[in-house]
Parts: sequence; structure tokens; C-alpha cells
Amino acid sequence: MGGGIAQVVAASGRRVSLHDSFPGATERGLAAMRKSLERLAEKGGADPDEVLARVETMDDLVPADLMIEAVIEDAGVKTDVFKRADAILPPESVLASNTSSIPIGLLAATTARPDRVIGMHFFNPVPVLQLVEIVRGRETSDETADAITELAHDLGKTPAVANDFPGFVSNRILMPYINEAVWALYDGVAEAEAIDTIAKLGFAHPMGPLALADLIGLDTCVAIMEVLRTGLNDEKYAPCPLLCELVGEGKLGRKSGDGFYRYD
Ligand code: 3HC
Repeated sequence: MGGGIAQVVAASGRRVSLHDSFPGATERGLAAMRKSLERLAEKGGADPDEVLARVETMDDLVPADLMIEAVIEDAGVKTDVFKRADAILPPESVLASNTSSIPIGLLAATTARPDRVIGMHFFNPVPVLQLVEIVRGRETSDETADAITELAHDLGKTPAVANDFPGFVSNRILMPYINEAVWALYDGVAEAEAIDTIAKLGFAHPMGPLALADLIGLDTCVAIMEVLRTGLNDEKYAPCPLLCELVGEGKLGRKSGDGFYRYD
């Protein structure tokens, strides 16, 4: 998602520094951005070279007006990034997280600027989906929330504000829906294709819940369910054993080439 976010920010005319500690990740991100920009250019979008000229890759975090963190859905990894960002970015800069579920207050508490920490939650694929869920921590200032809301509009997105609860609004609704679809498969209610066809055509969703889980990443789905289970202290949010088994086997969905479906 980091590449998608960098793409929409660069397409709005801003300069972006892309950093990822995994070897080769920024190169993969740039390649995906080019492919996406070329699809958009065919429909009258900006020149891909012009947009990509505003994106540079960096070996570490750099001083900037805004950081948008999009690392894996792991509180320890995210808090490490926020601690580092707090030391490197100027004190007036905003630190935003694309977290799907981890409380913003937890990330804010690791910094000396909790009023400038906020959730800026994009949706996959970022260049296509309109929503940005803006998550206000208890200490997020009105100034920060207003600036990030204005930025979301400026990126051509529609912002909607949520308060700081595990899973916020989006994943409190979406993940139990996906998890229940996995239970339906696990219980033998129907085959994967039938479950997805029923949801797709029956509820007019663009894709079924199992295909969507593959798009999001099954490891991310498990991580979000665990945040809901722990944060809301309710076993009804326990991830279905089948979801955990697939993750244990390294079947993470599209990104690993195998999940509920196979991807070539
Ligand atoms: N970049 C640019 N354009 C893209 C693109 C990309 N990465 N992906 C798709 N498109 C464009 C295509 O070019 C096509 O354009 P056209 O209609 O002008 O020809 C259009 O989007 C539709 O794409 P496709 O024809 O390839 O395929 P679909 O019609 O099946 O659409 C989809 C694909 C956009 C992924 C659609 O199935 C969809 O919206 N699915 C639901 C996605 C969703 O629910 N995302 C949210 C996940 S939750 C999340 O991210 C939050 C996290 O916290 C878990």
C-alpha cells in the first residue's frame, strides 16, 4: 500500500521520499506505481514519468512535512518507526499511520508530539478506491485533523473521520464479514467460488470476501482480527482456524501467489 499512497501523493504534485527496510521493496513499489500510472494515463491521467520524477527512494527516514507510515500490521514494528520518525522529522511535522486497526493512541504515546499523530487509512488498490478513513487519537489536535482532511481532499479522495477504537469503523465491519466467510468455507457451507459469487451478486460487491481477503493479505486479516479480539476483549473476533492455517503455510493471498485462490 505504501507504493499506492506514494503514487497518489506524487500525482497531486508533491515530492515523496519512499523508504522501506526490506531489500528490493521500494523497487517493487516503483514498478507497481509505473504499471498503475500507465493504466491511468490511458484514460487521460498524468504522464507516468512526470509523476515518478517526484518520487525518490531513501535508505532511511528523512526530514519531511509529513510521514505516512505503511509498514506491516504489527504494533512493535510500527512503534519503532514512530520513535525513529519522532527523532528525525521536524517537531512541527505530522506523523500519520496507514494502520488498519492499531490504536493511534499507542503510536502517539511513543512520540513527543501526540497532538500531531493521526490515522490516515487508505484502501486497496489506493489509486482506485476513494476513501481515506481519518482516525483521530484522543490527543490529535483539530489543526492536525483539519490539515490531513484537507490533504485527503487534495489527493482526490473522500475523507471520513472515525475515533480511535480497535479496527476503527472500516475493519470493525469488514473483518468479521471476511472471517465469517472463511468460517462458511471451513464448515463446508459452500465452495470458495460459490461463497464469493453469492456475496458479489447478492450484495452487489465488486468482489467476494475470500477474493478480497487474498487482495488484503491473509496475514493482515489475522493481525486485524487479533487487534479486534484483544482490543475489544471479545472472543467473537477470534480468527477462523482456516485463516490461521493458511498463514502458517505461507499462503498469504495475492502477494504470495496462493491463498483462497491461486495467482500466476
Ligand atoms: N491502478 C490503476 N487503476 C487500476 C488499478 C490500479 N492499481 N487496479 C484497477 N484499476 C482500474 C482498472 O484499470 C479498471 O479501469 P476501467 O474500469 O477504466 O477499465 C478498473 O480499475 C477496474 O479494474 P479491473 O477491470 O482490472 O477489475 P475489477 O473491475 O474487478 O476491479 C478492483 C478491481 C478495483 C480491485 C475492484 O474489484 C474492487 O474495488 N474491489 C474491492 C476492493 C476493496 O474492497 N478494497 C478495500 C480493501 S480493505 C483495505 O484495503 C483496508 C485495509 O485496512 C484492510
